[in-house]
Amino acid sequence: MVNDLDIAKPEKRFRRLRANNTMRRLVMETHLTVNDLIYPIFVEENASDREEISSMPGVFRETEKSLGDRVNECAQAGLPAIMVFGVSKNKDPIGSDAMRKGGLLYRMIDIAKQASPETLVIADTCFCEYTEHGHCGPLTDDGMDVDNDRTLNYLAMQAVNAADAGADIVAPSGMMDGGVEAIRSGLNQSGYEHVPIMAYAAKFASGFYGPFRDAAGCSLGGCHGPKDRKTYQMDPANRLEALREVEQDIMEGADMVMVKPGLPYLDIVREVKDRFEMPTFAYNVSGEYAMLKYAAAAGAIDHDTAMMEALLSFKRAGADGILTYSALDAATILNR
Ligand code: PBG
Repeated sequence: MVNDLDIAKPEKRFRRLRANNTMRRLVMETHLTVNDLIYPIFVEENASDREEISSMPGVFRETEKSLGDRVNECAQAGLPAIMVFGVSKNKDPIGSDAMRKGGLLYRMIDIAKQASPETLVIADTCFCEYTEHGHCGPLTDDGMDVDNDRTLNYLAMQAVNAADAGADIVAPSGMMDGGVEAIRSGLNQSGYEHVPIMAYAAKFASGFYGPFRDAAGCSLGGCHGPKDRKTYQMDPANRLEALREVEQDIMEGADMVMVKPGLPYLDIVREVKDRFEMPTFAYNVSGEYAMLKYAAAAGAIDHDTAMMEALLSFKRAGADGILTYSALDAATILNR
């Protein structure tokens, strides 16, 4: 019999602080609030109805009409910021629509700002949603790669266009060398010294972006251009390189830095926060969102419990904020 053994009785020094909910609340080390959440919104050009994205249950491609409602819903839920992604019907080899006053990017920002002026609008600053080949910048003449330096000029123009439309923050996500510096100088030359840059500083070539590429219609594999983004996005194996990427973006003028994807890269989030002490964000990407939804639909996990735990893990890893498709779901729970 086990109780016949003479086992030392330890102090209940951990369990006594877990005894009830109020006690647990008192000693909680990490807090998730609506202030930590940024909601990404897809907007489809020339669409008549908003449509649920098949691989992202609960997330919709909004229309330019429904965008305002969604932004208001975010504002009412207390979310400080949204990010907009265009689903363009005006693609070309360089993504010129994103640089055009009155183009989809411009209109999305304008609509969002008009719907809720105090909600921060973050402009994803990249070309993959607007190029016909789906890459994050124009291709080199031989079509074998993305042309880094040509992209820089365009990035600066896109950022200025976004600022013209009223964007509060620009967020370069294309992983071009020199991208942050180009955008900073373009913004400053155009009277936008006050517009901050949230740099997707360490963005990995990830398998977790699958549903996003469906949603935004920027899958690769068309007739021209490389079949993946490995010449500009990072190798998932590289931790030290991620730190150098972040350091470089800070030197170029990034005001905030981001790690992407989120959950498989929490080690990077922690290290970036500790080392640079900058406002640090993590992008809980489409595939991470889909995993929770599908696992819950299969009855394997309780969705809301797992979602709140995942979001909290970003805060515990040191993130100041989380870009997440779960922002509205989480806000509903946090506002109860
Ligand atoms: C554009 C961009 C992507 C995502 C955000 N911005 C796609 C990509 O790099 O392929 C992915 C977001 C997500 O999966 O939720 N460069």
